Amino acid sequence: MKQRIGILTGGGDCPGLNAVIYAVVKAAAKRGWETLGILGGFEGLLEPVRTRPLDYLEMDGLLYLGGTILSTSNRGRFAAKVGHGEAKQIDPAILAEAKKNCDALGLSALVVVGGDGSLSIGLQCLEAGIPVVGVPKTIDNDLGGTVVTFGFDTAVSFATDALDRLRPTATSHNRVMVVEMMGRYAGWIAAHAGIAGGASVILIPEIPFNYDSICRKIMAREAEGKHFTLIAVAEGAREQDKDFVTSTPPMGGKADAQREARLGGIASVVAAEVQQRTGKETRTVVLGHLQRGGVPTTFDRLICTRFGARAVTLIAEKKFGRMVALRPPDTTDVAISEAVGKLRTVPTDGDLIQTGKALGICWGNDW
Ligand code: F6P
Repeated sequence: MKQRIGILTGGGDCPGLNAVIYAVVKAAAKRGWETLGILGGFEGLLEPVRTRPLDYLEMDGLLYLGGTILSTSNRGRFAAKVGHGEAKQIDPAILAEAKKNCDALGLSALVVVGGDGSLSIGLQCLEAGIPVVGVPKTIDNDLGGTVVTFGFDTAVSFATDALDRLRPTATSHNRVMVVEMMGRYAGWIAAHAGIAGGASVILIPEIPFNYDSICRKIMAREAEGKHFTLIAVAEGAREQDKDFVTSTPPMGGKADAQREARLGGIASVVAAEVQQRTGKETRTVVLGHLQRGGVPTTFDRLICTRFGARAVTLIAEKKFGRMVALRPPDTTDVAISEAVGKLRTVPTDGDLIQTGKALGICWGNDW
């Protein structure tokens, strides 16, 4: 039966969003279905409703285009997270309006492409009667239910490349270079890029650090004749018994209590302390949103395509409330409720940490 399905991208932009759109539109067209893009994330479902028809003949070039042609939003009336990721109930009147507009648009299903925040909203939309299927997006790789989220590989590749590019300055000037990476409250990007990029110190939220340990590692390298050090620090890393470093500019009034904290600034804090303690010249680089831009890697394009195609299959099978996931070598699907609300962090006793330890990498508390 001919169907019209909707698709929206929610939360921060992420490499591969357009590749998912491409795959969903093509797979839907193959079944004779229409796809309608909802603009601006969930906000596009509220008055004035904003949509755009997605013709599969116009999908060429989207596989490698960064950002999202549907635009997105990580704030507004649908925000489902506040503070340091605490869940928030969306106003039932907003959910009812979204449901009414989905019906008016004739949508038989809605593909929600998002991370923990957007899929949490998706779950609340499902409970309000919108037939939702999810696709796991985030450079942070912190969602449950899937071995990896799309966007992560591209972010790690960029962060690794950044370490490669900073090494010459570090070695030529005998400096300590502190490189801050995204990831919110999970250290996946810093752990992967740090190991792949040859960082000697890697600081992640899962392992609160102390400066004695970091400086001992730097001085041990000095003693070996290695007068430079690369430090990869996740934005959510923090000193033992200290709070997260944030860079949330106040907006004033109720707005501040109603939004998520913005992490950032830890690299400067670490650099200042390390320079003061070791006497070594230290510089910082914050990779920031560069990690979300650019062309998705081959790996990301491939999982985006597989995820998009499987999302359409889920709709055909009426498996609403499910999220596509990767369980190598295959894609699979899991309940959205199993994937959200449980931050997936780097296991501190896992292979990644052990690999680093075997190589003499300092994780901030073990030197
Ligand atoms: O969740 C993706 C992410 O890039 C995080 O790594 C980062 O903390 C956050 O989004 C930044 O959000 P914004 O684009 O709102 O500054």
